[in-house]
Amino acid sequence: MLKVKMTKSFSQRVLHWFDEHGRKHLPWQQHITHYGVWVSEIMLQQTQVATVIPYYQRFMQSFPTVEALAAASQDEVLDHWTGLGYYARARNLHKAAKVIVADYHGVFPATLDEVVGLPGIGRSTAGAILSIAGGQNLPILDGNVKRVLARFYAIEGWPGQKAVENQLWTYAEQNTPDKRCHHYTQAMMDLGATVCTRSKPHCDVCPLQRDCLAYAQGRQGEFPGKKPKKALPVKTTTMIAVLHQQSILMAQRPPSGLWGGLFGFLETDLAVADAVDQLSIETAEIKPLAPFRHTFSHFHLEISPYLVIAKQCLSRHVLESQQRWFELDAPLGVGIAAPTQKIISQIKQIL
Ligand code: ADE
Ligand code: SF4
Repeated sequence: MLKVKMTKSFSQRVLHWFDEHGRKHLPWQQHITHYGVWVSEIMLQQTQVATVIPYYQRFMQSFPTVEALAAASQDEVLDHWTGLGYYARARNLHKAAKVIVADYHGVFPATLDEVVGLPGIGRSTAGAILSIAGGQNLPILDGNVKRVLARFYAIEGWPGQKAVENQLWTYAEQNTPDKRCHHYTQAMMDLGATVCTRSKPHCDVCPLQRDCLAYAQGRQGEFPGKKPKKALPVKTTTMIAVLHQQSILMAQRPPSGLWGGLFGFLETDLAVADAVDQLSIETAEIKPLAPFRHTFSHFHLEISPYLVIAKQCLSRHVLESQQRWFELDAPLGVGIAAPTQKIISQIKQIL
């Protein structure tokens, strides 16, 4: 019972707000046709009303009917789109016009499935055209409506996820009224564009404020949820710091690539004992240091550092050219990466 009452009052309040504050004088709202509403809805995707108006007027002057659009060349159509951006919209509009002329005798199709089958028209745009121009009782879910619903119901998660989108569609369907659906459609777009704005929504003048969950929780900024950051791959490495008489051995890395030109410890994929075997050193002790994670822009590096205390070090005098001994207590005088610095700090702590 309660749910039915709430659902009813949601659309009633939105419609009441529309009567007072909604936009009713836009060019495509005069002498409403499927063709005009379609062109406007495509132009309004990703583009603000004020920008669209002059483009819409020029477009309708040059291509007043779907037949005129279908007969035009692609260059002519694109020319009318210059500056609007997202040119695939214009190419699809042109393609769909040809389909409507060829397959539908120039009459805009009337069912949701047929309209969604046209190039460049998704379920929400189809719903908008068929409700605004055809008075059909169909829900919409464009970016504005997603934001209003996600906030009103405090829907967690990113709407790009199918499950979240499905939930939003369910609420969109539930709230779409039987009567005045065309006004409700326009109202939700206007509400999202002018009141429930992306940043700093005007909740004080919002007709939905009374039972908006995001408002009640003061969490308007958290809805809709953001696209999750892609999980970075995790790589692992073992770093071996050889210590001999208070000096540590580091090598300069190649000039380009990761940590290019910086000095760092020997890195290996082998087990530590095997790696140490390959060094010409007599080992007194191998001490594991605390492993840690270093994060780059495109991956995490799990670093397992070891301190290898050399008793005698045959290579001390036959170093490879890029290797050098550094006294732990003296300034290094070379560049090192943050993880190298961390390992040196760990070594100083245990000595
Ligand atoms: N954005 C998309 N469609 C719209 C419309 N019909 N009115 C205002 N903004 C919109
Ligand atoms: Fe959006 Fe605020 Fe209205 Fe909730 S109360 S729908 S957050 S404008």
